[in-house]
Parts: sequence; structure tokens; C-alpha cells
Amino acid sequence: VRHFIEPNSFSLNEQLALLDLADRMEKDPAPYAHLCDGRILATLFYEPSTRTRLSFESAMLRLGGKTLGFAGAQLSSASKGETVEDTVRVVSNYADIIAMRHPKEGAPLRASMYARVPVINAGDGGHAHPSQTMIDLMTIRQRKGRLDHLTIGFCGDLKFGRTVHSLTAALSQFEGNRFVFISPEDLRLPRYVKTESLEPTHQVYKETDDLETELPGLDVLYMTRIQQERFFSEEEYLRLKGCYQLDEDMLKLAPLDMPVLHPLPRIDEIKLDVDNDPRAAYFDQVHNGVYIRMAIILALLGIPNPVTGKIVLNGK
Ligand code: CP
Repeated sequence: VRHFIEPNSFSLNEQLALLDLADRMEKDPAPYAHLCDGRILATLFYEPSTRTRLSFESAMLRLGGKTLGFAGAQLSSASKGETVEDTVRVVSNYADIIAMRHPKEGAPLRASMYARVPVINAGDGGHAHPSQTMIDLMTIRQRKGRLDHLTIGFCGDLKFGRTVHSLTAALSQFEGNRFVFISPEDLRLPRYVKTESLEPTHQVYKETDDLETELPGLDVLYMTRIQQERFFSEEEYLRLKGCYQLDEDMLKLAPLDMPVLHPLPRIDEIKLDVDNDPRAAYFDQVHNGVYIRMAIILALLGIPNPVTGKIVLNGK
């Protein structure tokens, strides 16, 4: 059984095949509408979500399958002390595939060791969010036509930002990318992301707290929210919230073809006046989310593309 816990759970070729499949389904979903007839997706969400849970469910429904699950640990037997390991052993009897979000880093990985069906990490604490990363790659490729030789600015909460950690890992697989990490000193990228993702392939990166100075040199800007739920102290959060607020005036400094991505939800880090700018790509990401998650489900269930006959994951 294959699982999707981090971007590199799939090889680079598998990731690219997944993006191609999502692109195909986005253009013409009809041939895929019954591929999951009779299959069930379980969404086990121990932490709040709008996009990830609903788009996984939408993806399974659009493939002809069904869904079950819980949104909030208080509505499951986790509230009585049941472990993640026991929960997935149980749910493996009810579903063919599991998407799990959990506030603890590593919980989906632990779940995958006990599940009899594929487990998808739908976000674990401040660690990883690989399905969001595939959405981000799809959106960048659509906007820029490539995933290499790009200068990508990541801005905001880079310490707890799991989407940043996973996208950094994914983009470091491609040649010639430059990484600009823009954050307050206290929210810098964790050391382990540098040692695991950037340093082994000698990626070029810099760290700064100055967004405006960097904007003219960026090919892609990835904004993130300052995540109140990850802070240990309210005082610390209040000190850092609102530290970056992108608006139309600031965007005048940026190239006209620099997409602005954000995994959402946003608070105030992208002002509403940016929404009508052609560079705003965050609702494209939302749109792409359904097709990426359809592709992830098909890949992990080993269901071939009926149009090409190809499967996404080797060895299935
Ligand atoms: N992008 C994302 O993970 O959003 P949700 O928290 O709403 O799922």
C-alpha cells in the first residue's frame, strides 16, 4: 500500500504524472466520472479545515465514490482517548482510502503504519501538507509554464507554515530555482527544512524581513497567514500579526507576470484590492484543488487513466 505523507512520498516522475492527470481532468472531467464507483473515502479531520476536507470529498464524489468521516476530534472517539493508530485500524474496515488532518506532526505517518488502506496527509501540525503542494505546483506551472529556474518568494509565517515546508521540498527537486524567505526573525524557516530540502542539492536561498525590496526580483510570490493556533503565547502572536500586508500599491513594485499564491485562509496579509489584480492566483489554487485531489485518489487506488491507460504510481 502506498501513502502520501510528504511530497517525496512520490518520486519526481510520479509527481509530474499526477500534475498531468490533474490538468487533463480539469480540461475534461467526463471520462473520470465513474472511476471510483463503489469506493469510499474517509476524511478524518482532527483540526479545522474548509478547503482540504471539502475538496477531498468533492473529488471523491466527482469520481463517482462516496465519503464518510468526522470534522473535529470532539465528534470522534478521540475525545474518549482513542489513538490515531486504533482509529485507522478501525476505519480501514469502512473505507478504501483515508485523508487525515491532525494538529500533531507525524500523526498521519504513524497512521500509515497501521492502516490497511492508503493514507493521505491532509496537513499535520507545522510539518507538511503535500496535497496543497501539488496544487501549488499545478498553479505555478499553469501561470509560469515551468517549475524550474524560478525565483520564489515565501512570505509570512515560515516557521509553522507547513505549506511552505512542503513546497520548498518540492521546488528544490527542480534545477535553477532560487528561494527568498521573507519573514520576521522569529518566524524564520526551520533548520530541518534547510538541511533536508535545500542543502543536499545546494539550492540558492536568502533570508530577509523586507518584502518590498524583494518584490521586483520575484517570479512567484507565496504569501502565508500568521497562524494564531500555532503560537504558544497570545502576546507573541499579537506582536507578529499583521506584519506583512500586500496591497495594490505594493504590487506596483512587482513584475506584471508574478503570480501571487496563498494556500488560504487569509486574514489581512493580502488586502481585498489585490483580488481583482490578474496576478492574484489564490482562487485558481482553490479551483485546482479538486482536480489534484481527484488525481491523488486515483493514483493511490491504482486506477489507470481511461484515456491514456497510464497509472500515476510505478509498481502498482
Ligand atoms: N489550504 C488549506 O489547507 O485550507 P484549509 O485549512 O481550509 O483546509
